[in-house]
Amino acid sequence: MEAIWKLGSRGVAEHPHLTEEIEVDVAIIGAGITGLTAALALAEAGQRVMVLEAATVGGGVTGGSTGNLYAMLASGQAPLRRKWGDEVAASVVRARTEAVDHIEATIERLGIECQFKRQPAYRLSTEDRQHARHDLNEELDALISAGLDAEMIEDAGLPFDSWGIRIAYQAQFNPLHYVEGLAGRLQSEGVVIVQHCPVREVDPDSGIVRTDEASVAAKHIVQATHTPKGINLVQAGMLVTREYAVSAKLRSGEYPEGIFWVLDPFHSLRSYRHGDQRYLMVIGEKHPLGHHQIEAYRNLREYLETHFDVESFAFQWSAQQYSSPDGLPYIGRMHGHDNLYMATGFAADGLIWGTLAGRIIADQILERDNPWHAHFGARRITPGKSALQYVKENVTVTKHMVKDYLGIEKLDTFDDIEPGQGRVATVDGEKLAIHRTETGELKTLSAVCPHMKCIVHWNPSESTWDCPCHGSRFDTDGEVIEGPAYHPLAPPEERQ
Ligand code: FES
Repeated sequence: MEAIWKLGSRGVAEHPHLTEEIEVDVAIIGAGITGLTAALALAEAGQRVMVLEAATVGGGVTGGSTGNLYAMLASGQAPLRRKWGDEVAASVVRARTEAVDHIEATIERLGIECQFKRQPAYRLSTEDRQHARHDLNEELDALISAGLDAEMIEDAGLPFDSWGIRIAYQAQFNPLHYVEGLAGRLQSEGVVIVQHCPVREVDPDSGIVRTDEASVAAKHIVQATHTPKGINLVQAGMLVTREYAVSAKLRSGEYPEGIFWVLDPFHSLRSYRHGDQRYLMVIGEKHPLGHHQIEAYRNLREYLETHFDVESFAFQWSAQQYSSPDGLPYIGRMHGHDNLYMATGFAADGLIWGTLAGRIIADQILERDNPWHAHFGARRITPGKSALQYVKENVTVTKHMVKDYLGIEKLDTFDDIEPGQGRVATVDGEKLAIHRTETGELKTLSAVCPHMKCIVHWNPSESTWDCPCHGSRFDTDGEVIEGPAYHPLAPPEERQ
């Protein structure tokens, strides 16, 4: 499943695989927007930086994002204000505004072609009920109180009735082209970026990052991996979800210009241009990881067909989100290790949080003040705000473990597993993840997630094995795609 951002992508020059021991000042794991923003700030300050990427530059959640850049939170400014108060809610908007400005300035300074454009954002309802009016009035008040230029409008200009809030001066770009531009600049500065190079171990005590073939000694290790690798307390409270996107060409009608969040139910709309071609995209159908909805893409296609004159569909893709218990990300130095950094809990707002995170982490390493660190620090503890969510999520994980371990079907034969299908089953006492490829080949792996031993689920939309507990995902050969697991799903015979 490829995202639309691949159109016109030049990729990033491959560096030969590491085969030796290397020493750098900073090892960054992950070449998305967080890792590369940090890498640029550090390299420009004279640090010796190396970036290790399991897939390709921007090939994770950055390249699966919406390309929308905005100062408020997609989940709403009013809930944030209710939870944290006026001061923090306004700080979030100021910090995120500064990050959008930073992206714009970086694009201009480095000459990155990524279609950056200032656009308004809309938060819209399609129903005129009293509770919708009340909610949007509360949201408008929160946006204005946080310093945003927002107003109520009665018609958003979409081809269906929609009214709500218009927020001026947000932005859109192609996120993949942006990070490829950052990577190109880093490589020209001598920074080594190694792609297709999963990290298998991080040892902060000795300052070593191990890959399959090499070890990198670093004074600082940055986990720019969306969620920290390995086992970390922060994972216990995270809600892990996936959201889907579909793009289409229209036969007639206008392509809407801006960021459109239609709230009932939530769908995000935007358009994109590549050469002479224009595309409309819709994002939505979010669900907790492991609860797969095979119909997600179909529902999004139907949504577009209901509201627009669709000629054809072009791309579809999905991305993962980690939402923190208190609604704010965890960024910076981790508990217990002064040389280890993380950035997680970005929810649906990762391009801007990632940019902020890259700058906060770089400033921490360089021992420079950063005004935003105090609000989003990875070491902050907010038991009052977090406790309920922690309890809720841990109950969810426990339920998954009990239900999945007890509820696995027993299988005597693989014959009824159809091409393209995946099933988890107990075979001769082993819990196996079984997949039959479209060409009929049978692939069997242990169904036990190597992170903390939950049982993986088959994701029919993307043909992957996904772990509902903390978001690890594996391809049909068992290799880690994303998430906290370091190691692939084991072959059956090696499971014990
Ligand atoms: Fe934690 Fe699978 S991701 S147990």
